[in-house]
Amino acid sequence: MSDIKTNDKMEKIVSLCKRRGFIFQSSEIYGGINGFWDYGPLGAELKRNLKEYWWKSLTQARDDVAGLEASIIMHPKIWEASGHTSTFTDLMVDCLLTNKRYRADQIEPQSGLVFKFSGAKNGATGEFYAEPYSVLVPKGKPPEHGRKIACRFYQQRGVDGPQPEELPPPEPVENSTRYNPENGSLLTEPRQFNLMLKTYVGPVESPENVAYLRPETAQAIFVQFKNVLEVSRQKVPFGICQIGKAFRNEINPRNFTFRSREFEQMELEFFIRPDEVIEKHAEAVAKMSDNPDLSSPQPNWGWEVWHKYWVEQRLKWYENIGLSRDTLEEYWQKKEELAHYAKATVDILYKFPFGTQELEGIAARGDFDLVQHQRFSGKSMEYFDEEAKAKYVPHVIEPSAGVDRMILAVICNAYQEEQVPDEKGNLEMRVVMKFHPRIAPVKVAVFPLLKNRPELVNKAREVRDLLRSHMTVFYDEGGAIGRRYRRQDEAGTPFGVTIDFDTLGEKPELKDTVTLRDRDSMLQIRLKITELLPHLLEKIR
Ligand code: GAP
Repeated sequence: MSDIKTNDKMEKIVSLCKRRGFIFQSSEIYGGINGFWDYGPLGAELKRNLKEYWWKSLTQARDDVAGLEASIIMHPKIWEASGHTSTFTDLMVDCLLTNKRYRADQIEPQSGLVFKFSGAKNGATGEFYAEPYSVLVPKGKPPEHGRKIACRFYQQRGVDGPQPEELPPPEPVENSTRYNPENGSLLTEPRQFNLMLKTYVGPVESPENVAYLRPETAQAIFVQFKNVLEVSRQKVPFGICQIGKAFRNEINPRNFTFRSREFEQMELEFFIRPDEVIEKHAEAVAKMSDNPDLSSPQPNWGWEVWHKYWVEQRLKWYENIGLSRDTLEEYWQKKEELAHYAKATVDILYKFPFGTQELEGIAARGDFDLVQHQRFSGKSMEYFDEEAKAKYVPHVIEPSAGVDRMILAVICNAYQEEQVPDEKGNLEMRVVMKFHPRIAPVKVAVFPLLKNRPELVNKAREVRDLLRSHMTVFYDEGGAIGRRYRRQDEAGTPFGVTIDFDTLGEKPELKDTVTLRDRDSMLQIRLKITELLPHLLEKIR
């Protein structure tokens, strides 16, 4: 693989995503809308495959997890109980010159001279407009810059030909985050900004009709805990999982789809016994310091072991979709970084081309959420544990992943540029998306060698129809076979089947065989059409 520079790589990935129909900008013909994205034909398949694999791994491959699909808009009290109304905020600042909004913690500290102004005289009327303002002029920039910016500021406030009144002398500052690094203008004081998107339910836009688009899928699981428990006949420890849309009015959506305003989450809330109950029932609570075997859950596991168990389960899951351990990092949040509800949180990070960033968080949430909903709704969230003969509010371990970040990670991981020989033996560059066959949008492409030979075309269509009800198949008869292979390499299709004259019996011993090309090695094997389906099913499972 050629060494692609980081920024170049991201640019190439974004361009390929559009060109091949993985991801488009939302509302593109109207100039787009920041923080919103659409998945094209290949992206939609990829997303579907990832979600389905996650869902199957949790619900079908285990006995102790049940699924849920809840509404996006829920009772607004839920967000009071969860703390989102009061604490789901970012500190933000606005530029007084451009009105652009920034997250306060993302302002680069700057040093230089601050020029202060008490206001400005209107050059046309002589009136004085009194609004204090200041500009930071970084080291190396001429002092006139401060005055120029101040003129623009007062002009915007309706002062004609402004003559700013300076309050000398300029004041030296070090590492200040009060000024906009883009133009030196003063910023507003940091203000809390709630990230939940608001709407009104019903015909009247009044405060009592305010509702929110959910900022996470988790809360629906907590509020439906009792219902699911009743109908699923599960016993603690057990989990409820959900896949669905979440919305956050992010101040700075960025890094392609990484931080979006509309995204999907895949969350599991896994309910466990509190350590005190285990202590009474099993006498000793297993902790990580006991070095427990994490391969099969035990009744004496305390929250610490369950937490680590889920971290390991999730890391293995990522490996199963083709993200090897060396592309991932486990980050244990420090005490001061933990959310108010968390006893411990591990972030699973992926090494994106733009930096190592969070894919999923696995939090030990204690009984915070169920207790809060019990308090706010007045409905008991207690569980009677027949085995332990105890009544308690279960504790929770929460693996919470973002689908869109995962898609971005598998796309970045799959993108490769390789020098390979063309049909004449000359080296050319191929772009190949090396998706794990399990999640690849299209599993197999079927090609008749020539499109103007009906016998080849008919046979190829027969093969396509044979495979089609078992996997996503792409049929392509246009252009030279080498070009067709390259198109599928870019789409990340792991297998290519070619129907040639030997398939038709030109060499009798090869009749009803096809060539099967492997995307990654580009090697071709010949196998019988009757062997094709089981062979492919084995590879894409
Ligand atoms: N219930 C816990 C929770 O929502 P979170 O860390 O805020 O925790 C979980 O979100 C996951 O959701 C993140 O690890 C990330 O993958 C995804 N996510 C969060 N905000 C996102 C955004 N603005 N755009 C895309 N994905 C996001």
